[in-house]
Amino acid sequence: MALSPPKKPKSILINIAFLIVSAGILTFLLNAPEETTAKLPLDEDHSRFVDMKKKEAEVFCKDCHIAEGVSPLPEDHPPKYRCLFCHKRD
Ligand code: HEC
Ligand code: HEC
Repeated sequence: MALSPPKKPKSILINIAFLIVSAGILTFLLNAPEETTAKLPLDEDHSRFVDMKKKEAEVFCKDCHIAEGVSPLPEDHPPKYRCLFCHKRD
């Protein structure tokens, strides 16, 4: 009769380490800061974008939000391909 080998202490340690790492990642994610990125303003400059498809609306953002525009982006602005994924409308 073949007996299964007893669990090695090493694999128990690995399992414990796995649990600790998982708990750490979960805690990190649950502590993520609230969304703070500025929302799309609801003024006359922006109201026409509310009912557009995101991709259609984003074509117009650069009319004003370029270095020479009426409202340039901050120097340290993050990568800006899809404005409305970060600057939510609502
Ligand atoms: C006709 C010019 C114009 C266009 C087009 C425009 N904006 Fe603006 N935007 C402004 C001006 C002016 C301000 C600064 C005053 C204000 O808050 O309305 C501004 C401010 C903002 C702000 C900052 C709000 C805050 O709370 O600080 C965001 C975000 C923004 N726009 C996103 C966008 C996005 C995304 C688009 C494209 C869908 C867009 N804008 C198109 C003129 C424009
Ligand atoms: C990856 C996410 C991301 C994308 C994409 C993005 N932004 Fe931003 N934007 C930010 C963050 C973060 C800030 C910093 C200030 C804040 O909290 O709003 C910012 C700031 C701004 C501001 C200044 C807001 C203020 O209060 O001074 C404007 C205007 C703006 N973004 C417009 C745009 C436009 C127009 C596009 C598309 C061309 C765009 N953003 C794409 C994340 C993003």
